[in-house]
Amino acid sequence: MRTRRLGKTALRASQVGLGTWPLAGNAGLAGYGAVDPERAEATVRAALAAGITLFDTAGIYGDGFAESLLGRLLPGGEGGAVVCTKGGFSHFAQGRAPDRRAFKAEVAASRDRLRREVIDIYLLHNPPPVLIGLPDVYRPLQDLRDHGWIGHIGVSVARAIDGWLALDRPEVEVVQLPFNLLNTQADQGLLSRAADLGKAVLAREVLANGWLSGRYGPASTFAAGDFRQHLPAEVKAAIAGDRAALEPYRRPGESWVDFSLRFVLDRPEISSAIVGARHPQQIEALSKAGTLSPSPSWHPAD
Ligand SMILES: NC(=O)c1ccc[n+]([C@@H]2O[C@H](COP(=O)([O-])OP(=O)(O)OC[C@H]3O[C@@H](n4cnc5c(N)ncnc54)[C@H](OP(=O)(O)O)[C@@H]3O)[C@@H](O)[C@H]2O)c1
Repeated sequence: MRTRRLGKTALRASQVGLGTWPLAGNAGLAGYGAVDPERAEATVRAALAAGITLFDTAGIYGDGFAESLLGRLLPGGEGGAVVCTKGGFSHFAQGRAPDRRAFKAEVAASRDRLRREVIDIYLLHNPPPVLIGLPDVYRPLQDLRDHGWIGHIGVSVARAIDGWLALDRPEVEVVQLPFNLLNTQADQGLLSRAADLGKAVLAREVLANGWLSGRYGPASTFAAGDFRQHLPAEVKAAIAGDRAALEPYRRPGESWVDFSLRFVLDRPEISSAIVGARHPQQIEALSKAGTLSPSPSWHPAD
């Protein structure tokens, strides 16, 4: 498993990271269906065995379930896994920022669940664009960083345009956002800007929530409790059409998962591709992608 440096920070981590949203069920936030604690544990153990050292989570995933799982299973100490978690979600959803007290309580709860003195990376979880540019939003986290509770501050956004706002803030060292074969908005300048500024980009939803896994098509249905079941038929058809248009670029014998990971990991500006595997068997493809090298630009298959 190759590692990459996270921007200008002193952190290095595996170029493929494990995202823990799909492991955490639906408590606190709609997810990928019912939680299966044994399978979740086996998936994290398989990731560790494959050399994955970057784990993405959030206090809200399974109402603390995902953080507690990582707290129990990850090695601590120097050279251990790098943990990225997030907070402020419920406040941001109401259009306001958590105050100092609220942030302190959230970070304290995450530290307890993760069993870590220092949280390597702490991200604002989906802040509305109007708040991303305000210095006051970051002050509580800067204080907690000064107190040694947080290593690095960042922002997790759903749209690349909001990522631009985050890159402009001097407090922000890490930006997390979707980047995949079907969503290349980050490639409209943001990736190179982040590299110029020495800020880490964590690419997430690399498999477009499973739509790039090759397992699903327009007629696919999902289990009760899986947020993907609510996608309208016309959207599923559009995704299938967009994916079909990429078919000529897939190398002979290359799976959709391999192709999707290659596309993201070809980019040297990306520190890690975060994939939400939810079965231990799904780790194998992540392990394979861990050997890929970045190239200066993406080349279609020859
Ligand atoms: N706002 C935010 O901050 C935010 C939002 C979204 C995600 N995230 C983070 O980013 C991570 C990645 O996003 P995501 O998990 O939603 O999307 P993703 O990684 O694009 O897709 C996850 C889905 O892909 C399928 N999958 C994973 N590995 C596979 C493999 N090797 N082979 C075949 N299928 C595979 C699984 O689907 P099935 O097994 O069901 O087929 C899984 O549920 C999350 O886990 C979370 O940590 C953050």
